[in-house]
Amino acid sequence: MVLHRSATMSARLALVVIASLLIAVECSQEIMKNLSINFAKPLEDCRKEMDLPDSVLTDFNNFWKEGYEFTNRQTGCAILCLSSKLELLDPEMKLHHGRAQEFAQKHGADEAMAKQLVDMLHSCMQTTPDDANDPCLKTLKVVTCFKTKIHELKWAPSMDLIVGEVLAEV
Ligand SMILES: *[C@@H]1O[C@H](CO)[C@@H](O)[C@H](O)[C@H]1NC(C)=O
Repeated sequence: MVLHRSATMSARLALVVIASLLIAVECSQEIMKNLSINFAKPLEDCRKEMDLPDSVLTDFNNFWKEGYEFTNRQTGCAILCLSSKLELLDPEMKLHHGRAQEFAQKHGADEAMAKQLVDMLHSCMQTTPDDANDPCLKTLKVVTCFKTKIHELKWAPSMDLIVGEVLAEV
């Protein structure tokens, strides 16, 4: 009887833990969606300025699709352009950690999540070799690394959440 009761209790506790984890993950996905939409906001401006091909838009639309590989070096240029317009870069075109964290917090991340995002980007920058002085290609590889980490955490927003909204914004 006692045994039975404590088994029920731990089953209940396990359910509560699982439910909280699911809510946290779902919440992170919502925030990642929010960050993506806000990050992509200047895309139309960048597209006009840089004369970006449609394949770049395809890359953006498929951005969070698991296993999707970017097709276009110019997608890296576009990501640099967006980062620069959002003032997330320092004068050397490197990620400004403080502003990146601020951006994440402004759009829904708490401090811990914002820090974790910036740390992940930073470690991706460190492990990605410089690409024959091609900042667009380097950016693309850094973003690919970041995307993999986000998928590992199950933070990637689901595609149906995002496609329509990014398109609507552009
Ligand atoms: C999304 O970002 C806006 C600011 O751009 C913020 O007001 C809102 O709370 C955020 N939503 C979520 C789910 O974090």
